[in-house]
Amino acid sequence: MYQINFPACEGRGLVCIILTAGHAQKLSKEIQDDKSGRYGHLKGVPKALLPSPQGKRILDHWWDAINTRQLFSNVFLVTNADKYKYFERWATASEFPVENIINDGSTTEANSIGAVADFELTLRVKNLWEYDILVIAGDMLFQDSKFDIAQVIDYFRRKTDGDLAIYYDMEESEPISSRGIVEVCHQTNKILKFLEKPLPNVTGSRNASVVFYTFRSETVALVPVYLGEHLKTTQRTFGAFMEWIINVKKVLVYGMKLPTGFQLIGQVGLKDYESWVSYFANQEENECRDPITMRAYARVGLMGNPSDGFNGKTVSLSIANFWAEVTITESSNLRLIPHPVNDPTEFGSMSDLYGISDKEGYLGGLRLLQATCKKFYYYCVQRGIALTRRNFTLSYDTNIPRQVGLAGSSAIVTATLKCLMAFFDLTDQDMSKNLQPQFILDVEKDELHINAGLQDRVVQIHEGLVYMDFSKSLMERQGHGNYSHLDVALPSFFLAYLSNPSDSGRMHSDVSVRWRKGDSEVIEGMQKFAELTDLAAKAFKIADWSALASLMNENFDLRRQLYGDVALGQENLKMINIGRSYGAAVKFPGSGGAVIGFLQDESKKEEMQQHYQREGCVIVDIIPKEPAVKLPYLDPFKELM
Ligand SMILES: *[C@@H]1O[C@H](CO)[C@@H](O)[C@H](O)[C@H]1NC(C)=O
Ligand SMILES: *[C@@H]1O[C@H](CO)[C@@H](O)[C@H](O)[C@H]1NC(C)=O
Ligand SMILES: *[C@@H]1O[C@H](CO)[C@@H](O)[C@H](O)[C@H]1NC(C)=O
Ligand SMILES: *[C@@H]1O[C@H](CO)[C@@H](O)[C@H](O)[C@H]1NC(C)=O
Repeated sequence: MYQINFPACEGRGLVCIILTAGHAQKLSKEIQDDKSGRYGHLKGVPKALLPSPQGKRILDHWWDAINTRQLFSNVFLVTNADKYKYFERWATASEFPVENIINDGSTTEANSIGAVADFELTLRVKNLWEYDILVIAGDMLFQDSKFDIAQVIDYFRRKTDGDLAIYYDMEESEPISSRGIVEVCHQTNKILKFLEKPLPNVTGSRNASVVFYTFRSETVALVPVYLGEHLKTTQRTFGAFMEWIINVKKVLVYGMKLPTGFQLIGQVGLKDYESWVSYFANQEENECRDPITMRAYARVGLMGNPSDGFNGKTVSLSIANFWAEVTITESSNLRLIPHPVNDPTEFGSMSDLYGISDKEGYLGGLRLLQATCKKFYYYCVQRGIALTRRNFTLSYDTNIPRQVGLAGSSAIVTATLKCLMAFFDLTDQDMSKNLQPQFILDVEKDELHINAGLQDRVVQIHEGLVYMDFSKSLMERQGHGNYSHLDVALPSFFLAYLSNPSDSGRMHSDVSVRWRKGDSEVIEGMQKFAELTDLAAKAFKIADWSALASLMNENFDLRRQLYGDVALGQENLKMINIGRSYGAAVKFPGSGGAVIGFLQDESKKEEMQQHYQREGCVIVDIIPKEPAVKLPYLDPFKELM
């Protein structure tokens, strides 16, 4: 697994304390009184050692999760005098150090001392005041295949200024008055409020916290203070303690959401035990999922500045002609499958290898899958989203022509992100549709040093015909632009692209450097692109194709003036000139290698097509890709009407 370094925390050990000192009176009594005969062998067995799905005992799930890695400098278990012997037996059978079991001396609910006092007893007799502590209730039922305890610890290590509580989204059948409920800040993951067993009218949150807390030693030091002020056993629950440290002492505690629920907490009965055990068993059985396949489509830029993030405005269209497809399948190990054509690993000969490498370079799609996975894991660790512990196989395919500026790379990243989100049950709440384009851009920019802007990713996430406003003030305020679907008819666009493009001849322009330096020609040019975009949005709205044609031509001419012919390249200029010679409105749909246009007079269409084909181009009619979900309509050009 990917290990993150935490230099700030070096040397400070993490100790795990498992609480199993509760007296599960109701459950023991019901097992005792059961007439069915099914539970005879469980009489007297402590709750933590009751059987759970997969033939394990409840405590075994915890012990397996804790024991498989070198995460802790030590592990302790605290229990009561009544059940001590059972845990001693369990320890010798499970290679748990018997000397690390602490006995709190209680024999009934009436003389129990409370979970926080059990915690303090362990800290005191084992002298653990210098350590960070993970404390868990060892008699809770959960799905251990669902999360990786190492990821929880990673998150705690990253957040050096606070403690950590995990929480889960409650099932509809669970009342919030049965749990500690947390209100969590969506942006920072800080817990704003902790409500122990609240009434339903007190909070809208269904985020339930359970005894699975990681405390820094500074917070551990508050335990004796709390006990000094709270003498009754009923006050010495972890829920009450958490309310006190968060709401009263204002200790900073982060929340991390886990994808499993936790059950059998507190005084439950035999019915709860039966139904939750079979519920979790069903969950395990339904675990293995069908493969998921996701597509992302190529796009054409119809209007506005080229895709380099100039705080401009653009209109882009996703097209159903070409797409990338990624498939994720649950598997026993984690694998990324190279594409047979795009990621060649076998060659006919040295000369074949030379030819392929010379023409296509070294940039297949596999690196895109890998970089997306890396960034996705990092995003989740940072946001406190725990991922289900399971491996997968990713494979991809694409028919988007390469090196002609139709956003083929970001399509693969987009489809991979959609697969990962679906596979790990992340929703738009975990990564909003407004932020997904930025994530995709970050994969390409930060991981793969691909220079690009947001607009291709926006249209690939939202699909359809999208108007985008990246004004500086919007970007700074929201972290994303304003995006809306233009719900209009389109003229019949054609797309022509080089059938045999090469990367070697492409010149890079200095426009982005000049823009960053505040060059007035470039700044004015970008403003002009934004104006053209607004005018084009208006032309679309009233289906004024002759206005649209002039605007597209003007858009290209402005680009030519700003970038210069050398940067645009002879082959690209030739494609523009062919279209124009037949009266078509033409411009680049992306960074070069293709042109998009339309003819107002279609009588010359066939002649024009043949001309493009003669010059070694492929020409197709564009099929717009309709969006699955329409964005709320913001009228971006209302003042213009
Ligand atoms: C509950 O958790 C979700 C997911 O982490 C979070 O987005 C949401 O804001 C939380 N709700 C409340 C009321 O804190
Ligand atoms: C919630 O309901 C209870 C009674 O059911 C009432 O006593 C309490 O004042 C209510 N709290 C709020 C915040 O409305
Ligand atoms: C994932 O794959 C790795 C390497 O093949 C393996 O060691 C690990 O046990 C697998 N994890 C799961 C949850 O299957
Ligand atoms: C951006 O969108 C928001 C709503 O999401 C709207 O209130 C705002 O006026 C829009 N801003 C511009 C400049 O269009």
